Amino acid sequence: MIIAIDGPTASGKGTIAKALAAHYGLPHLDTGLLYRAVGRQCMLAGGNPDDPEHALSAADFPGSLLEDPALRSEETGALASRVSIHPGVRAALLARQQAFARQPGGAVLDGRDIATVIAPEAEAKLFVTASVAARALRRWSEMQQRGESVSRDEIEADLAARDERDRTRAAAPLRQAAGAALLDTSALPIDAAIAAAIALVEQQVAAR
Ligand code: C5P
Repeated sequence: MIIAIDGPTASGKGTIAKALAAHYGLPHLDTGLLYRAVGRQCMLAGGNPDDPEHALSAADFPGSLLEDPALRSEETGALASRVSIHPGVRAALLARQQAFARQPGGAVLDGRDIATVIAPEAEAKLFVTASVAARALRRWSEMQQRGESVSRDEIEADLAARDERDRTRAAAPLRQAAGAALLDTSALPIDAAIAAAIALVEQQVAAR
């Protein structure tokens, strides 16, 4: 079974994807990490993430970069959002994601275009979202725990800018795919969000 999960940053989609993978015994791919690696590689090489050619050459990043803790930073997230608008970068990462999705037994993938582009054939599709305020609060708490000090307003502004870029880009914009179930986690503790996600997957599989 392929489970496709899309949604904006800090919506809870990553945590839900990991929980679904554990629940169904499936491998999981966080596709945002691939775009983060391209963004970071572009920066390390001294390239301009807004230049399609610089961004594309960074798509050939070394595999070890995926283990770099710096990929999780807000700075890298913003770089990822910039390199991900280039169709060449998206095309360069396509085969790897599709091969992961189509492995025997299936997989869980989370990102922005999993149900729309990477695996429209997925048996279960979720669009996980939450209000900007709820997402900014979560991101702020995570950063507080890591000892990083950033204001909630700054985080909210960054999330809103990133959402806007992801939703309005021409190549694979973030949107709810046809047939994807909407899960709004704004008011849900994570356990309840995971339980709701499992229930939605079960409903979709039963309805096929
Ligand atoms: O999900 P995450 O915050 O790690 O993603 C970082 C950025 O990578 C997103 O803002 C988005 O621009 C891009 N991305 C994408 N397509 C995906 C996953 C991530 O364009 N499938």
